[in-house]
Amino acid sequence: MIWTVGGGKGGVGKSLISSSLGISLSRLGYRVILVDLDLGAANLHTCLGTLNPQLSLSDFLSGRQPDLSRICTATEFPKLSLISGCHDALDISSLSSEHLAPLMESIKKLSSDIVIIDLGAGTHFTTLDFFLDADRSMVTFTPEPTSLENGYRFIKAAFFRKMKHLEKKFDLGTFISEVMDEKNRYQIRTPYDLIQYIISQKPEIASQIVEELNHIRLEIIMNQTRSLNDIELGNSVLSVCRKYFGLSVHLLGHLDYDNAVWQAVRKRKPVLLEFPHSVISGQFLRICKNLIDHKSKRAVV
Ligand SMILES: Nc1ncnc2c1ncn2[C@@H]1O[C@H](COP(=O)(O)OP(=O)(O)OP(=O)(O)O)[C@@H](O)[C@H]1O
Ligand SMILES: [Mg+2]
Repeated sequence: MIWTVGGGKGGVGKSLISSSLGISLSRLGYRVILVDLDLGAANLHTCLGTLNPQLSLSDFLSGRQPDLSRICTATEFPKLSLISGCHDALDISSLSSEHLAPLMESIKKLSSDIVIIDLGAGTHFTTLDFFLDADRSMVTFTPEPTSLENGYRFIKAAFFRKMKHLEKKFDLGTFISEVMDEKNRYQIRTPYDLIQYIISQKPEIASQIVEELNHIRLEIIMNQTRSLNDIELGNSVLSVCRKYFGLSVHLLGHLDYDNAVWQAVRKRKPVLLEFPHSVISGQFLRICKNLIDHKSKRAVV
């Protein structure tokens, strides 16, 4: 199973969440591999402790090590290993589709129960394709307006990328591109309108398109909450996503802003290890349980 952690903005907690979920799930008995796809700014190894991986995705992408499983570095957590991001200047925008397909295929073949991919910030098509291809796609928001804005933009970009794939798959010519144009003459203003329009105009393929969209399993984590209002914002994000995107989204929970995090980061130690009784450590466990409980459910359009 492949899980991804994304979010439009930098610094919203993607790496903290990826690494902490990896640790928590491995402690619950799952074999987990973390993949740092934040190529240009890889730091997942630091979030896991003071390890210094000898091999990284650079070795795979350059062809020096074609077997991705050999790039896995053991961590101090018995069932958790890491595929570190690039140690050179390569970043996500330098990845072409030539790199992408073998990387995706190799990730799918890794031997583990769960692969968690830290996607890094931004809406590069590679980031979006990994996000869309995952069994579950998590988005991190913080209560700041900039994070909310970028988070919605990230989901919208992923949605449109998916629609472009579907246009190709169902041989629709430029049908979807035309109606996706912001200034289209069909009064389509939101992704939800777009789905309704497709259902009315292309009834013969509507159910297949809806089925395809059902495979996007969107899950939200509200991070760095400081008040009840911040926590409740999670529900507002949820209803906006449902209304605007027409997708059923699941709220996994919230994580408080916790000083234990920066104190652990300064020591280059995972917060779960350094402060196992902190508020945030308990909240991570709750999110893990939510993830496990919702294992068999799918997002519904
Ligand atoms: N809940 C929290 N409480 C306190 N500090 C936090 C919390 N979440 C994240 N941080 C801090 O915010 C900073 C950014 O977190 P992190 O590196 O996980 O974000 P990111 O989304 O991966 O960023 P980037 O896009 O730059 O990779 C870190 O210093 C981290 O320790
Ligand atoms: Mg990060």
